[in-house]
Amino acid sequence: MRLQVLENYKEMSVKAASIIASQVILKPDSNLGLATGSTPLGMYDKLVEMYEEDLVNFEKVVTFNLDEYVGLAADHPQSYNYYMFDNFFEMVNVPKDNINIPSGIEDDLKQVCKDYDQKINDYGGIDLQVLGIGKNGHIGFNEPDNKLRTNTHVVELNDETINDNSRFFDSIDDVPKKAISMGMSSIMKAQKILLLASGKQKAQAIKKAINGEITTEHPASLLQLHSDVTILVDKDAAKLIS
Ligand code: F6R
Repeated sequence: MRLQVLENYKEMSVKAASIIASQVILKPDSNLGLATGSTPLGMYDKLVEMYEEDLVNFEKVVTFNLDEYVGLAADHPQSYNYYMFDNFFEMVNVPKDNINIPSGIEDDLKQVCKDYDQKINDYGGIDLQVLGIGKNGHIGFNEPDNKLRTNTHVVELNDETINDNSRFFDSIDDVPKKAISMGMSSIMKAQKILLLASGKQKAQAIKKAINGEITTEHPASLLQLHSDVTILVDKDAAKLIS
């Protein structure tokens, strides 16, 4: 694992954007695995800026998002589909047909999950996977448990995650209880992984991911088994790392 501690959120975001941009410059038809949430917002802003300045071109890029809430349509403002278009896709030139986000509103969600993994495989896998991390160590929506799922699957969100994510909804009762998430092997099969964390509320999760025992009870700790992981954190998120 390569750990880089940046001065603050802005510097972390700029660094993350430069890693994504380098990937796309070196391999214009990269398959990017993308995350939502608060953490990568600054990275998307910077990437949009770099695109507007002609420093990076996404016309051949294919994207696969990590997850989506079950029951929220693409046009629901809290869906991850809406987030991605609102914060990134509307402002850059990733072709619409190259954008993949699992749909959480189909009748047969098992088939959605199967088709999603098949498509990732058909495209030759993910070149660079961006991840955030939950306070409980989740990545994607692979929640701490005594077992983890390998493939894309429907997951019951745990109370801590529902509580954390309620900040985006009018009330905690509006937060969906289930999501579709890439599984651990879809994530671990990516050629490269870029994990971002900012703020002291993530310090414990980062410490355990880097120095803790490798356990399904802290899914991010499994990243220790991957050969090409870069972790970018700001000073607050790094404060428990010795
Ligand atoms: C989002 C995702 C989640 C988030 C995590 C951290 O696509 O997969 O694992 O990365 O919940 O969320 P923030 O960045 O909002 O703290």
